[in-house]
Parts: sequence; C-alpha cells; structure tokens
Amino acid sequence: MHEHAQPLTVAPVQKLQGELAVPGDKSISHRSIMLGSLAQGITRISNFLRGEDNFSTMKAFRSMGVPIEDDGQTVTVHGVGLHGLKEPGDLLDCGNSGTTIRLMTGLLSGQSFFSVLTGDQYLRKRPMKRVVEPLARMGAQIAGRGGGTLAPLAITGASLSGIDYKSPIASAQVKSALMLAGLYAAGETKVTEPSLSRDHSERMFRFFGADLDAFSNGVAVRGGRELKGQEIVVPGDISSAAFFLVAALIVPGSELLIRNVGVNPTRTGVIDILKAMGGDITLQDQREVSGEPVADLLVRSSRLKGIEIGGDLVPRAIDEFPAICVAAAVAEGTTTIKDAKELRVKETDRIAAMASNLRTVGAGQIDETDDGMIIQGVESLSGGTVTSCGDHRIAMSLSVAALVCKNEVQIDDVSCVATSFPGFYELLAKVAVR
Ligand code: S3P
Repeated sequence: MHEHAQPLTVAPVQKLQGELAVPGDKSISHRSIMLGSLAQGITRISNFLRGEDNFSTMKAFRSMGVPIEDDGQTVTVHGVGLHGLKEPGDLLDCGNSGTTIRLMTGLLSGQSFFSVLTGDQYLRKRPMKRVVEPLARMGAQIAGRGGGTLAPLAITGASLSGIDYKSPIASAQVKSALMLAGLYAAGETKVTEPSLSRDHSERMFRFFGADLDAFSNGVAVRGGRELKGQEIVVPGDISSAAFFLVAALIVPGSELLIRNVGVNPTRTGVIDILKAMGGDITLQDQREVSGEPVADLLVRSSRLKGIEIGGDLVPRAIDEFPAICVAAAVAEGTTTIKDAKELRVKETDRIAAMASNLRTVGAGQIDETDDGMIIQGVESLSGGTVTSCGDHRIAMSLSVAALVCKNEVQIDDVSCVATSFPGFYELLAKVAVR
C-alpha cells in the first residue's frame, strides 16, 4: 500500500452515457521520452500521459542531463544524441514502473557510465532476470539483489555485441530492453518471441530513423545509426479505455463513445475478447497518427456470455485481464482464462488478486489455475470491502465491478490509479448517471 493510502467507496450507477477521451498511451509515452532523449534535435510530444510511471521515466532522463520541458500541453525533449547521456548523480527511482526499469536496464547497459535502478516495494519484488540474463549475454555488467534477479540493479556500462535471442516469453519489455541495448551493440541484435508482444518500440524506432527489420514474431536492430527528433501525437491508451468498455457493456442501458483510442493490432485483444463474449463494440473513423492506428470506439451494453481465452490472444490483452475478469463475473456461463501465467508477475499477482476480490463482492465459483482462472458468471454482484493490492488496474477493475453491485464497494487504496490513469474517477463521474 502507498504511504498515504486513499480509500474510496464506489456506489452503483443507473447507466453510463456520453462521450469521453482517455489519457495518452502509457507504453508509447515512455518510449517517446526515451527515443526523444537519445535522438538528435527536438522531439515534441502531445497527449503525453502525465501518470506517475511516465514521470519516473522523465525524471530519470532529466537526471542524465536531458532537458525536458512540459508546459502542460506539449512535452519538449531536447535530445542529446545516442552518446550524450551523462552519469546520474544518484539512484534512478523507477517507482512502480516495470517498463521504466526493464527498458532502462537495456539502455544503460551500453552507456559509458555507472548507474543504479531501483523502485517501490512492488517493483523490487518483480523478476528482472528476464532482461538481465540476455543482456549479460550481450556483454552487459549488471549486479543486483537475489543474484542479479531483483532491483536495485547496478549497471556498469560496457561494450555490447548483438545476439540472436529466442525469448521464452512474449514480453514487450524484454524485447524493448534488448532493442535499446542493440542501439549500442556491435552487429545485429535479434529478438524472436513465442508470439508477438506490443510492437510500439518497433514502430517508434522506425519513426525516429533507426536501422531495424520487424518480423511477424520479432525484430532485428542494428546499432550505431543516429536517431532524429520527431513530432509525436500519443493516441489514447486502449488499456485505459478497457475499463470504460467493460463498464458500458455490463451496466444495462449504457452507451459510450470513447474518442481517439490507439488500436494497434498487438493491443486490441480486449476488443476481440469482449466481442467474442457478445459485446457490442464498433470502431469508427479509423486513422493513423505518428505511425500508430487510432479509432473512436462506440460501445453499448450487451448481454455477455462466457468464453475460453488463451494462446496468442493473451499477450494482445495482457493488461486488460483484471477488467475482463469483471466482465466474466457477470457473464452468462463459464469463462476460462489460460496461458496467462504472466499475470502472476505484474504489479501484483493479478490472478490471485481478482479471484479473491471478486469472491468478496459476491461473484460465483472462481477457480484459480497456475496460468489463469475459471470464472462462473452470476446475475449480479453484492458489494463489500476489497483491496487494490497497490495495483492501479486492480483498483480500476474493482471500481467497474462496483457499478453493478447491489451495495457499495469500499476499496482500501486507490492512490495507485495515478500511475497510469490520473483523472479516472472524474471521467467516470462525468459519464455516470446515478
Ligand atoms: C509493457 C509491456 C507489458 C505490459 C506493460 C507495459 C511495455 O509488460 O504488461 O504494462 O510498455 O512494454 P511485459 O513486457 O512484462 O509483458
């Protein structure tokens, strides 16, 4: 729990109605600061996500000598070039952000200076071996707790060589860490995944002029080529939109238009899953912005039914499972989630967290499995006192569940919501009819 826990009581609503826009994409916002910092010249970012995770990334680059201004509209990054970063004077605190620490581990491995990455109590429990081990094969010198598997991680910059890495997991953080290290490595750095994870790094590397080839299940980066600063418009985060998609689907009589949502095919698993459950979701006005597909999403409440979810769909919806669990809890029949073991090592163990919290608010039978869960849907939920486990997506998912509970839901701490979705409760209040 955060130092200053923020408990919140969420009451049921009659319906959700209206239009909204969700904040910028978290993954793309991180990458825009990173590549903007490493590029030559100025990068201007609009619709940047002003969440705590992204501020951690911003702060880290500022402390390595990158001038970054934010006037509240546009973030302006004065790129220092591939070899322009300076040794930070203190620890780089990544807060709660897995993307910050894992991508920075790759990037810092190839610098000519020493740095230490750390984070909050949750991040310091998350597995880092997945990046440390392949980076060490490239020549990186990384020490850390637990034999180099846990933060804090201490990195002594070293000269790197490209490798051909077959990743055992579909992880954009692992892939991107190696791609960033690859910018500094001799030769080619190739990463192949069991199934393609989000490809925002590939798209943005290309946008900034990096030398790379993207494949159907991976990428190859060649180092040395300077990047050029760009204008970036960050699309709305589909992971944030997901809470409103589920909310509108499960609260009867609802209709929402969510404008300007990123619909990169490596991220739209949640739309495919909710549609397969019977959800009425339409993509309108599809367009491309800064190399990323964008659309407006129209969603109308629907009678949902349980389905089986597994395989390649899982990495395409990885952050949306807490919200999908809520949809499954009130769907007709059984929903089976498998191949989702990664959920156990997110900001919290999201399988355990959703199973126990949904039971608390009166869900039907829920069985946890090693790599997923089996959820029997029920007509309605009751309410109760639940815990966010300090995880932003658990907090927001339980808030969505609360909208269809008979009674109120008390959440122990929603301060974590600010890591990815500042303004979530204000937006919810704006479209809620009570
Ligand atoms: C992210 C990758 C995913 C995702 C996380 C953001 C990224 O993590 O869950 O929220 O920006 O690269 P994994 O790489 O661990 O799957």
